[in-house]
Amino acid sequence: MKRRTFDPNEPKTKVTKESFREALEIFKFVQPYTLELVIGLILLFLGSGVFMIFPWLIGKMIDVAQGTVELNISLPTIGLVLIGMLVMQGFFSYFRVVLFAKASEYGMADVRKALYLKLVTLPLVFFEKSRVGEIVSRLTADVEKLQNAFSFVLAEFIRQIIVLVVGLGFIFITTPKLALIMFLTFPIIVVGTMIFGRYIRKLSNERQKEMANTNIILTETMQSISAVKSFTNELFESGRYNNSIDTVVNISMKFARGRGAFSSFIVSVLFGGLLFIIWQGIVMVQEETITAGELVAFVSYTAILGAAIGGLGNFYTQLLSAVGATERVREILKTESEVAVREINEKANLNLLGEVEFKDVHFRYPTRDDVEVLKGINLKIPAGQKVALVGPSGAGKSTIMQLLLRFYNLESGSVVVDGKNINDYSISGYRNNIAVVPQEVLLFGGTIRENILYGRPDATEEEIIIAAKQSNSWEFITLFPEGLDTIVGERGVKLSGGQRQRIAIARAVLKNPKILLLDEATSSLDAESEKVVQEALNKLMENRTSIIIAHRLSTVREVDCIYVLDHGKIVEQGTHDELFDNVDGTYHSLAKLQFESV
Ligand SMILES: Nc1ncnc2c1ncn2[C@@H]1O[C@H](COP(=O)(O)OP(=O)(O)O)[C@@H](O)[C@H]1O
Ligand SMILES: [Mg+2]
Repeated sequence: MKRRTFDPNEPKTKVTKESFREALEIFKFVQPYTLELVIGLILLFLGSGVFMIFPWLIGKMIDVAQGTVELNISLPTIGLVLIGMLVMQGFFSYFRVVLFAKASEYGMADVRKALYLKLVTLPLVFFEKSRVGEIVSRLTADVEKLQNAFSFVLAEFIRQIIVLVVGLGFIFITTPKLALIMFLTFPIIVVGTMIFGRYIRKLSNERQKEMANTNIILTETMQSISAVKSFTNELFESGRYNNSIDTVVNISMKFARGRGAFSSFIVSVLFGGLLFIIWQGIVMVQEETITAGELVAFVSYTAILGAAIGGLGNFYTQLLSAVGATERVREILKTESEVAVREINEKANLNLLGEVEFKDVHFRYPTRDDVEVLKGINLKIPAGQKVALVGPSGAGKSTIMQLLLRFYNLESGSVVVDGKNINDYSISGYRNNIAVVPQEVLLFGGTIRENILYGRPDATEEEIIIAAKQSNSWEFITLFPEGLDTIVGERGVKLSGGQRQRIAIARAVLKNPKILLLDEATSSLDAESEKVVQEALNKLMENRTSIIIAHRLSTVREVDCIYVLDHGKIVEQGTHDELFDNVDGTYHSLAKLQFESV
């Protein structure tokens, strides 16, 4: 039996009829294993039933031995029956555990897979609004709870109920008077124990909290011991610590008194009650109202019933917490994906030309709706042209790319590609036409080959090599002894910024997009790697609509059109020469600042 550990952070679940009915929806995941569950349940009933016959049989054995009861069966026969039942019991238990495990393991694996698939298909906003830790905890802790519920808690709960019902039935039929006496004393004891237990648990928590407090004082002062000394606050701090310790002692003493009272309560009341009942029973045996065997059976049943009642409370709280877990799991599953899974599967064939148009786009980030980030953006990029977005940081340049990727919904206006609102395309098919080379490239821990393949998982070895060559990566890759099989990331080689950038370009080459987004792709590189990367980028940009965000204006001199952004608006647009000639313009002053400082 697993001990219930108290977790003060766990949200309290109020179980209403509504939430309970919804919680049952999680059964959908174990539905494919209904057969296992049903057989498991039957075995559970059989096992519990057989288990409940034991005390009765033992009582009978005693009576037969004493000769109080004349039975046609001999002791060895009863012994054989007992052994037979033990074997059956073992058989039932084994298959019940395995069957329940099958339903819970497979069912919960399905829940995990469904959750994961849901998570990766959720819109970006979801991840900005929830904390990653919370999401991970749902995938692990909550599902773990459900798994426990299905594999073990639910079964135990049902078993205890069977034990309770059957046990009560047995004693009321065989020894009704004694059962009645017990029935009158027992609930008082149980309720008393529960109330007492709760009070003690509360004290124990208080003590723990106060103890944590003293530790906080301790670590705080140790960390800033020099401050304590320089302010000569040693006595002040030790006074603070002493107070806290004194509080701990006070609570601990209260806790100890509670525990003491509890154990004397248990000893006197619980065992007292039990003794009282047994004494009553013995009187009855003496009066020959019941047999000794019946008394033994009765006492055994009482002990089993006591354990069952204790267990029920425990399993009940665990079930409640599992219901709470299903709520949090279902909340994620209910959130609407941005992509239909079928659609990702097909990678929807959509071949765009790459004409991009922003029509009066207004936008606020969902997590910060007090700031209008884009205030009426208008721009039109003919297919295959290269444009640059320049302007101070925070102007909204990256935001324009995010919107083109359809990461967020617009407040008003529209983004149109090839004459069609991008919301009207299938999202995967649409995004398949776009590649991004960001400023900071994150590679997955794995081989260089896997990282390049991320651009198009079904590319051939030859295509990978071509992509590596085109992105100027091939040279440094072949310098590694393992070549494309070199592991990158934490457990492998650490690639430099420029090398990572070139891997990202190789990915883009494989993806062969119609629209290319470069968000400060070379900004964090030193001059030498910038040259190699820029070369690769220039090759990549050929025949594609390219939007380039650049910090260094020298890199965007050659583009077809430069848009200058400031505070979410396009303040100027034109070619480098046009913009530079306007001596009062923002671009002119930006450019002058940069070219002079070089
Ligand atoms: N994910 C986000 N959530 C909320 N605000 C954001 C987010 N990303 C950017 N912003 C805000 O939007 C504004 C424009 O950002 P951005 O487009 O990244 O600027 P730029 O790329 O021009 O430097 C900034 O004020 C920034 O703080
Ligand atoms: Mg940016």
